[in-house]
Amino acid sequence: MRKYLVAGNWKMNGGTAANNELCEQIVAGASASGTAELLVCPPFPYLEATGRKLAGTPVSLGAQNVSQHASGAYTGEVSAGMLRDVGCKYVIVGHSERRAMMHETSEIVAEKFKAVLTEELTPILCVGETLEERTSGRMEEVVGAQLRAVLDATGVEAFGSAVIAYEPVWAIGTGQTASPEQAQEAHQYIRNILAGMDVDIADAVQILYGGSVKGDNAAGLFSMPDIDGGLIGGASLKAAEFLAIAQAAWSLN
Ligand code: PGA
Repeated sequence: MRKYLVAGNWKMNGGTAANNELCEQIVAGASASGTAELLVCPPFPYLEATGRKLAGTPVSLGAQNVSQHASGAYTGEVSAGMLRDVGCKYVIVGHSERRAMMHETSEIVAEKFKAVLTEELTPILCVGETLEERTSGRMEEVVGAQLRAVLDATGVEAFGSAVIAYEPVWAIGTGQTASPEQAQEAHQYIRNILAGMDVDIADAVQILYGGSVKGDNAAGLFSMPDIDGGLIGGASLKAAEFLAIAQAAWSLN
């Protein structure tokens, strides 16, 4: 039985006061659940302070990005070891905003995925197609290629310690959520690729859906057989909305 994971990607939002308040409100509303885990991913400068607030609570800490390198002359970069040092458990890799705006290729994403695993943190690998790719019938081709680039670099065993997030680019920040059926189809496709290599790993891996998840559509998405939680952007910046999404996961177990 897979556990749900509800992850908040705060992106480049907030400041000390706002992030502290958001964190406190989420912690106050979070219940320890054996069947669903909560996670917040603040911007780098707030990781350590947020981690202190989360200590001893049922909410985990994650980062939004990482360098593929372990250390050295990489000005402005942050290594997986540093993220482990400040208490991160998860690291998002390959978010579509980074692929599109920071020109991260699938090969770079695979290097980052490996760097995260080297530090015994859990990568959350984001994959997803653009609107143009979906309407031209290429969802499977694009998502499959993004996933295989990492599989080729790491082998399927690595997915025993990883999370996947299916995030159709056309649904991110647009208010246009994938329907539960559209998301399920993609999630099943992803799980089937892994099942072709290792059935047990495919069964166990959590596949999150991301893209305009809100309190009022989360239960419909999370009740699909291959959807194991969400990666939440905009709605994770409002504690009540994020907790409503978490509630959907808690109540489905
Ligand atoms: P959204 O973002 O929930 O604001 O659509 C999701 C994401 O980018 O992870």
